[in-house]
Amino acid sequence: MHDTVLKISDLDVRYGAIPALHAVDMTLREGEAVGLLGANGAGKTTLLNTLSGFLRPSAGRIELFGKDIGRAAPHTIVRRGLLHLSQERDLFGELTVIDNLRIGSISRAPKTASRNLERVFHYFPRLRERVSQAAATLSGGEQQMLAIGRALMAEPTIMLFDEPSAGLSPLFVHEIGAMMCALRKDEGMSIVLVEQNMKLAAQVVDRFHILRAGHVVAEGPVSELEKDHEELAREYYL
Ligand SMILES: Nc1ncnc2c1ncn2[C@@H]1O[C@H](COP(=O)(O)OP(=O)(O)OP(=O)(O)O)[C@@H](O)[C@H]1O
Ligand SMILES: [Mg+2]
Repeated sequence: MHDTVLKISDLDVRYGAIPALHAVDMTLREGEAVGLLGANGAGKTTLLNTLSGFLRPSAGRIELFGKDIGRAAPHTIVRRGLLHLSQERDLFGELTVIDNLRIGSISRAPKTASRNLERVFHYFPRLRERVSQAAATLSGGEQQMLAIGRALMAEPTIMLFDEPSAGLSPLFVHEIGAMMCALRKDEGMSIVLVEQNMKLAAQVVDRFHILRAGHVVAEGPVSELEKDHEELAREYYL
């Protein structure tokens, strides 16, 4: 019933001579959310950058909907439905909210743009009130909403989120968590979520993987995250 949409097998990634990921295996099924946890420098962003085509694997295989994408260009991967929301957000600060959103739909047919705009405003009504405001002048939380909204304009079926809660107040973190849950429930979106905020991860994901120094050192169902967070941190992060 729930097909595998993304399958990572025995993946190695290097920066020159330095290994960053080793023998990573991970699968993501349709409509599922998987958390990727681990200390700073563990390789989480490296894994997302490899999935979205910005880094080349040195060994192993990545299949998106059953097709090998290990050598595919980033724009090809976006067209096939996988979208990576980077840790930096990458907004065009001088452009308005509406122009940033329009840029997000460049890879799609123009006639779908207005429908997608309504979809973004449905999730983030606050963006509708601010369509003419320059992106750089939005608050941090609003900028994160705009970055997610722009990603949605590309009609992804799989989204990779890299620490979406970074620097946000609890209220915004909660809104973004609720929005990720709605994307799964209403649209069957599959999600890979990199997070340091365990509460947010536990709200959104079904399963998690923990990376340490480029290796997956643990994985399990979300119920495991309800264990003592300090114990988890001692066990896997130090
Ligand atoms: N362009 C690069 N060249 C060389 N080494 C890099 C490069 N990018 C990342 N690294 C190294 O690869 C390792 C993994 O980095 P990565 O950014 O994937 O970690 P992360 O788990 O996302 O960390 P954080 O939680 O701090 O965002 C780190 O040791 C980092 O210094
Ligand atoms: Mg990172």
